Amino acid sequence: MCISAHEKIRTSTNLRSLPPQGSVSTNSTTCASLFDCKYSINTVDDLVKNDFILSIFEKNLKMKIVLLGYMASGKSSIGRKLSSKTGLTLIDLDDYIVEREKMTISNIFSEKGEIYFRKIEGIYLAEILNKKEDFILSLGGGTPCYGNNIQIINDANATSIYLQASVKKLAERLIAKKQKRPLVASLNDDQIFEFVGKHLFERTRFYEQAKISIKTDGKKKNEVVEEIYNLLF
Ligand code: S3P
Repeated sequence: MCISAHEKIRTSTNLRSLPPQGSVSTNSTTCASLFDCKYSINTVDDLVKNDFILSIFEKNLKMKIVLLGYMASGKSSIGRKLSSKTGLTLIDLDDYIVEREKMTISNIFSEKGEIYFRKIEGIYLAEILNKKEDFILSLGGGTPCYGNNIQIINDANATSIYLQASVKKLAERLIAKKQKRPLVASLNDDQIFEFVGKHLFERTRFYEQAKISIKTDGKKKNEVVEEIYNLLF
């Protein structure tokens, strides 16, 4: 068992409370409370040494993946590809909002305002994170940056992944497809560059709280999907 797999198990499950590899715990933790099996373990080392327990563990490993990043960072398209590769259900938060509110995102912004949008965005986010089933969730670009959404995401036993891209790449992609994005729809190309530069600077401190960051510039979407797959599966 390599250290990264050990850490993967420890940090992506309820076993955060267990000590890191190599350390000794004074309290015994009972698997039964976590995974309906009757083994008692003292450290993560005890656990990973036993292949049988490990197999039970891996079967029960929750795989809630949350993709976050700026507008046009590829959250939805990478989410779709990762979903077809893994068989995990994809939930796109913007699509979920559109379905529940029976309005497009642009219409919600123009008719009800951004404050209303941020309020329902937080409510639907919490609703999705409470689901028992595993999923891949692609967020809206602003989702982790409002309320205590980033804490809620990271406390939800989910693996949050920041899809990191440069201002240049993001602005170029946004210029090509700005119409359905109310925050940039009315800006010209130069204004979009400037807007993205400032906005990304403000938001980066939230994005960087994701458990994993992946640089996407210069990579094909399939390469990013492979990178995530190799890290988590
Ligand atoms: C927003 C991003 C959009 C959408 C809304 C607000 C933002 O999602 O949620 O227009 O604040 O960055 P995408 O990142 O999928 O474009």
